[in-house]
Amino acid sequence: MKREAVFVSEEELNRQRAFAEAVRENPDRPESYYVVTYGCQMNAHDSEKITGMLEDMGMKPAEKREDADFVIFNTCCIRENAERKALGNVTWLKEVKKTRPKMIIAVCGCMVQEPGMAQRIFRKYGFINLAFGTANLHKLPEYLHRVLETGLNVVQVENQDVIAEEIPVRRLRYDFAYLTIMYGCDNFCSYCIVPYVRGRERSREPEAILREARELKESGVREIMLLGQNVNSYGKGIPGGFGFPELLKELDGLGIPRIRFMTSHPKDLSDRLIDVMAGSAHILPQFHLPVQSGSNAILEKMNRHYTREQYLERVRRLREAIPGIGLSTDLIVGFPGETEAQFEETMDLVREVGFDSAFTFIYSPRVGTKAAEMPDPVPEAISSVRIQKLIALQEERQQEALQRFIGTEEEILVEGLSKRSSRAVSGRGTHGISVTVDGTEADIGEILKCRITGLKNNTLTGERADQ
Ligand code: 5AD
Ligand code: SF4
Repeated sequence: MKREAVFVSEEELNRQRAFAEAVRENPDRPESYYVVTYGCQMNAHDSEKITGMLEDMGMKPAEKREDADFVIFNTCCIRENAERKALGNVTWLKEVKKTRPKMIIAVCGCMVQEPGMAQRIFRKYGFINLAFGTANLHKLPEYLHRVLETGLNVVQVENQDVIAEEIPVRRLRYDFAYLTIMYGCDNFCSYCIVPYVRGRERSREPEAILREARELKESGVREIMLLGQNVNSYGKGIPGGFGFPELLKELDGLGIPRIRFMTSHPKDLSDRLIDVMAGSAHILPQFHLPVQSGSNAILEKMNRHYTREQYLERVRRLREAIPGIGLSTDLIVGFPGETEAQFEETMDLVREVGFDSAFTFIYSPRVGTKAAEMPDPVPEAISSVRIQKLIALQEERQQEALQRFIGTEEEILVEGLSKRSSRAVSGRGTHGISVTVDGTEADIGEILKCRITGLKNNTLTGERADQ
């Protein structure tokens, strides 16, 4: 059964195809494009859709952004510095545009979807020809057509929570693919702007996901990464209790060599999911499980719906069911009111778990979120000392944690030549950790068996075990 309200209609998609054709036929259309991407995997995949639509409209990639006729910035707004960086780079292009008046500058993504941002862009950044949000990505052909026809700036943000299937996609790699399973987030963690800019949580139909996965397999893809803000809660609105574990089971049966997913929320990590992972053939033994803080008082203020003890219990259960599982996390320091003792509880948790990697952030207030209204901001000077301590501890623990791989075998999907040597290649192992081994360009896109022999700067080094 299709949940019509959520889906962009076939009629609308056909309208967009007609606009794409009109742009393609327009002799004044841009010839070349350049896409600049900030932020998470969701954005990286949206950029693949943008690229697909631009190619569909007849454009070719430019080598450098300053040479392109059409430059689009796909922005992020999760922290203030992400936003500052994007706006700074867009403004830099304003100077280039003075010498190339036909250049079209577009901005899209999460930042544009922020309340008030579209008006700000329209009033203050007149050199931006086109701006649209995350909800109306599929309408790029219509907007570009309007810019070309009228010569006016188009700034358009919509708030509908939709799923647009069948947008042309140009994937960046042929061996690896992102596959979105759900959009948006309903969790409203008090610091996070995502629910406001990516909308309510909505899951794609299982059949649509499985069809895309089968097509990817047939095209030779060796690894897929399932994407969603909170993949564990996949299935809201889908009849018959078909949730994330059921979806994983179906995908595992397709025979794609490697399947990963991100991101997960600890509160939704069920025993059923762990059991499905443990019993699967192709779901990789890796879990990104953001904890954010080790203090129960802070977790509550963050609206995370779990305690430190519950988190540690999930980690224990994961490690029991999938020995050696790769574990990574996200951590925030300097949340409003965070005391030294509460920060130390985060340090303790990091010491106790021994993550294979962690993304560490200084809390950044985002307008419109609950936390932005909370009292007792932590001074920047204190937050930066805390984050340095946390990074130092994590590096130390990471070195210890990664020792467990030495002497084991790991299969890697080769991503490219190693940065350090032209006779070595690197790729990600099944546990999510980078491994460098001897190899050449011909190995890119291949799965290699390696024996892990050492550890250098958080990268495992190995010997090939396939020859
Ligand atoms: N400040 C700092 N870090 C944040 N994150 C999300 N919102 C904020 C914020 N306002 C971090 C969280 C999340 C990751 C994607 O970004 O750790 O898991
Ligand atoms: Fe943001 Fe929390 Fe949703 Fe993650 S789960 S996107 S941190 S609101």
